[in-house]
Amino acid sequence: MASAVLLFFVLMVMSVRDGKSEKSLFNLKCESAVGVISQNTNIPCSIESQKKPVSINTVVLKRLGQKKPCFVYQPHENTITGDTRFKVLGGSSLQLQNTAISDEGEYEYHIRTSLGEDLIKFTISVTAKYNNPVITSVPEKIEKNGRAELHCTASGGYPAGTIHWFDQSNTNWTKSASLDITRGDDGLHTLSSTLRFQSFDTLWAPFKCIVLNNKYQEEGRSSFILERKDVSETTVGNNTMTNTIAGVVVIGSLVAGLLVALLCRQRRVQQLRRASALPF
Ligand SMILES: *[C@@H]1O[C@H](CO)[C@@H](O)[C@H](O)[C@H]1NC(C)=O
Repeated sequence: MASAVLLFFVLMVMSVRDGKSEKSLFNLKCESAVGVISQNTNIPCSIESQKKPVSINTVVLKRLGQKKPCFVYQPHENTITGDTRFKVLGGSSLQLQNTAISDEGEYEYHIRTSLGEDLIKFTISVTAKYNNPVITSVPEKIEKNGRAELHCTASGGYPAGTIHWFDQSNTNWTKSASLDITRGDDGLHTLSSTLRFQSFDTLWAPFKCIVLNNKYQEEGRSSFILERKDVSETTVGNNTMTNTIAGVVVIGSLVAGLLVALLCRQRRVQQLRRASALPF
């Protein structure tokens, strides 16, 4: 009895597999693609079949959820309709030129060939690298133990990433920062992170700001060159003062020395004159 049940299941599974292989004599396979903004994106596809060669009659590309195809290609008539940024490369692979953020999404790829037809889904995702981050501070010149804000901004990226902060000893300050993400008309993101200090210890500097993409990969970093109010004004001022004083002291002692030497010489000359003027 048990063996009869097993046989039944085996036959059922086989018939399902047979049914599938009868329906399509080939398989269309596509890899999902990650494109870079304003560059060409390749969508590698292949036709797997026992019989060769397979000739393509029609390619229809639709965005998921839309009725109208975004691209139709008929190689025999050599006609293309829809978005001309799409191209069929050798075989069944596709290329999308001048990729835009709006191209992101799921697609349905319908192919009709001499061996029948098949339908497959693939996704296109788009990325754009962030520009190198720029760090500024408020105030521009930071006072020791004074209030301070550091701002790190990176623009032109996609999708949304994040910013991490580290100080001179590589201590992670990210938790104390607040991140603001804005999206421009072009769909690209600007990341702005702010680190606020009630009392800034100049020993923490330089601060590093690191830009990470949505996969937490580093895309750029910057170091903050600290401009200290106390150093740049007071200390430098003092230095000039000491230099001036030192100069005055050196020149003054030289002049004094010369005067003394002159006086001594005059005295000796006078003494000699007096000696020679004495009557014999
Ligand atoms: C720094 O801190 C952030 C936020 O807590 C965390 O996500 C990140 O992994 C930390 N980075 C390192 C290198 O420890």
